Amino acid sequence: MRLAVLGAGGRTGRLVVALARARGHAVVALSRKPLVVPEEVEVQQGDALDVEAVTRLLRGCDAVVCAIGPTPGAPKDQDSRLAPVLIEAMRASGLRRLALITGAMQAEPKHLGAFYRRVTQAESVRVFLDDRRQLEQHLLASGLEVTILRPPRLSARGPSLDGPEVTDDARITLLDSCSREDLARALLDAVEAGARTGPVFVRSSPRDGAFWPAWLLRCGLAEFLGITLAAVAAVGLNRLVGEPDSTMERWLVYTSFLLTGAAEGAFIGLGQGTLLKRLVPSLPLGTFVGATMLPAVLAWAVGMAPSTFFVEPSATGAPMEGPSTWLVLLVSAAGGAVGGALIGAAQALALRRSVESVKGWVLATVLGWALALPLDLLGATLPDAATPGWLIASSAGGFGLLAGLTFAVPTGLAALGLRRRRQ
Ligand SMILES: NC(=O)c1ccc[n+]([C@@H]2O[C@H](COP(=O)([O-])OP(=O)(O)OC[C@H]3O[C@@H](n4cnc5c(N)ncnc54)[C@H](OP(=O)(O)O)[C@@H]3O)[C@@H](O)[C@H]2O)c1
Repeated sequence: MRLAVLGAGGRTGRLVVALARARGHAVVALSRKPLVVPEEVEVQQGDALDVEAVTRLLRGCDAVVCAIGPTPGAPKDQDSRLAPVLIEAMRASGLRRLALITGAMQAEPKHLGAFYRRVTQAESVRVFLDDRRQLEQHLLASGLEVTILRPPRLSARGPSLDGPEVTDDARITLLDSCSREDLARALLDAVEAGARTGPVFVRSSPRDGAFWPAWLLRCGLAEFLGITLAAVAAVGLNRLVGEPDSTMERWLVYTSFLLTGAAEGAFIGLGQGTLLKRLVPSLPLGTFVGATMLPAVLAWAVGMAPSTFFVEPSATGAPMEGPSTWLVLLVSAAGGAVGGALIGAAQALALRRSVESVKGWVLATVLGWALALPLDLLGATLPDAATPGWLIASSAGGFGLLAGLTFAVPTGLAALGLRRRRQ
């Protein structure tokens, strides 16, 4: 294929030229400045807004890649002026295939996270976006085979392992980025395929780079918050009613723990769900969060019932002899596995319409909670009656953080293994 590359001296344009050569295409490039390019690449000097220069460039080509971007001092209507130039030059040269870059901020607000929704409201940004929208609209109405790639923030990272993700269904947040290498690959894939795909998002696969720090942070923070809340509630209630004695006091304590269970489930569901949604955009987030909360409440209900309703406070007020730490750890690992199975199965109900198989997710959740719950329990059993309240909450929170990081590992591996169901 003989390819014409506009903006060949730009950061993405240069990569497009190199990759096109590596894929065996002949390349002619347009640039306003002299370029250092491989010998076989023919460079024509000229402005992309000059229809004669562009028509000359396209003569004898099979497809065009446009990697032009706004440079300081560029006219405010550069993009809308570019559209008729490209259309006229392509028609004059009998060319039909074009791939070009705009940006994710061109998308409708439902595809954008809160930060981008806010930024796109700013007057100066709106002027720029309106101009680009005209470019998109003119090209899509031209009847040419146009692929418009809308990347989020561009990065200098190398190509991602999974390759660029090209999709028309994405929610772009600050965590998203697209390496220029991936963008160059997507541009060339588009002109090689030749299909008219309209505007699509392109980003480096969310499975790469940014996934692990974000997943560990979310799982760790969610369990830290959930367990700290439970510890604060326990200390507060102990100050308020002492060891629960009457039926009303026992129910007060019990209900408080069920509420903290719901909060813990909500934190985990939101933490995991918002990131899973980047891997599997059709995941129903509300259902996923609900599916995490319900088993969490159930687990707290079962776990707290014996100590709340069936243990009588000692008559002397002296601390009672508890089971050995090893027994607590063993029983809590078994309890964690059962709780993990419940949570995993309920979450799988939310996931199964969007992914091909949920088995790995359920198994990972069982393993994750079998390892994590003993840590939660250790944090709760280490302090004794003389430990100050702040230390009880800190110890519980610290062990909660460790527990969250622990279940993050198997569930994170399973999340990366989830394969989207073809819609
Ligand atoms: N940066 C981001 O995070 C981001 C995010 C989303 C989308 N994008 C979009 O991605 C695209 C590529 O970005 P990039 O960072 O790779 O671009 P870049 O490095 O800024 O390069 C832009 C190129 O366009 C050329 N150009 C501009 N106006 C021209 C004209 N009238 N005639 C001929 N050449 C012209 C420039 O040539 P000169 O060297 O002669 O000036 C330059 O080589 C841009 O459209 C940008 O808006 C960027």
